Amino acid sequence: MTERVVLITGGVRGLGLAVARRMAADGDRVHLAYRSSHDLAREREAEFEGRVHRADVTDQDEVRALFARIAEREGRLDVLVHAVGEYVAAPLTETSPADWRRMWSSNVESTVLVADAARPLLRASRGALLAFGVAGLEGLAARRRTAAYAAAKSALLVFVRSFAREEAPHGVRANLLSPGVVPHDHAAADAFDEALRARIPLGRTGTPEEVAEAARFLCSDEARYVTGVDLAVAGGWLA
Ligand SMILES: NC(=O)c1ccc[n+]([C@@H]2O[C@H](COP(=O)([O-])OP(=O)(O)OC[C@H]3O[C@@H](n4cnc5c(N)ncnc54)[C@H](OP(=O)(O)O)[C@@H]3O)[C@@H](O)[C@H]2O)c1
Repeated sequence: MTERVVLITGGVRGLGLAVARRMAADGDRVHLAYRSSHDLAREREAEFEGRVHRADVTDQDEVRALFARIAEREGRLDVLVHAVGEYVAAPLTETSPADWRRMWSSNVESTVLVADAARPLLRASRGALLAFGVAGLEGLAARRRTAAYAAAKSALLVFVRSFAREEAPHGVRANLLSPGVVPHDHAAADAFDEALRARIPLGRTGTPEEVAEAARFLCSDEARYVTGVDLAVAGGWLA
């Protein structure tokens, strides 16, 4: 079988890195993209054999250049995992217009840009796209401290489902994976909040490896009939 070519944006740390390692362990040829974590990127160079690229995925020119580089180097792209999406936690009274714009740009606009750039490559390979939401989107529930973040992720869910629908006739699948609370070395402080942990029905936070296992499945041939879903990997927590 031909080695799959995978691009993981936000892949030098956190959940993206866990997915990258899981897919590399399966024999995929994994590329990573990052924005500003230069030291971490350097650390990943050897592990991913130079396939580490700097690109701000909220900038259309940088996104186009990134996908052109992958296309030139590999001639194909089979899987795009978009693990970018900034977070802000505050009540509405303390959420600024700049916070709202940042949530939209980082979570929604970036996905639209990478999906657009990846489309021809994914059509050619009949590949798959995976983006990251947050548990509980389906309920459209009020959020105590994460309205701007959850609103952006809700828009992202509509985008991913629409992309899945439009691309299905071309053999391309698109899904959302929605983690609950998953601490890692660079996670936001809320991921370590005991009060949050206490509300998780399975009684513990998740691990990046558990998220990566679900991501592996959604991007694999085992999930060839799965598209347009939002899979919560959250220990039963729905925010
Ligand atoms: N961890 C959790 O508990 C949790 C829960 C629910 C949902 N999620 C979602 O899961 C995804 C991954 O989460 P995470 O915890 O791994 O996040 P993270 O630690 O913040 O990592 C995100 C990565 O995205 C990169 N990035 C951010 N903006 C970028 C941009 N404009 N261009 C290129 N790269 C950019 C960052 O790279 P640089 O450092 O180089 O800037 C960073 O390495 C996110 O969408 C997040 O919202 C996470």
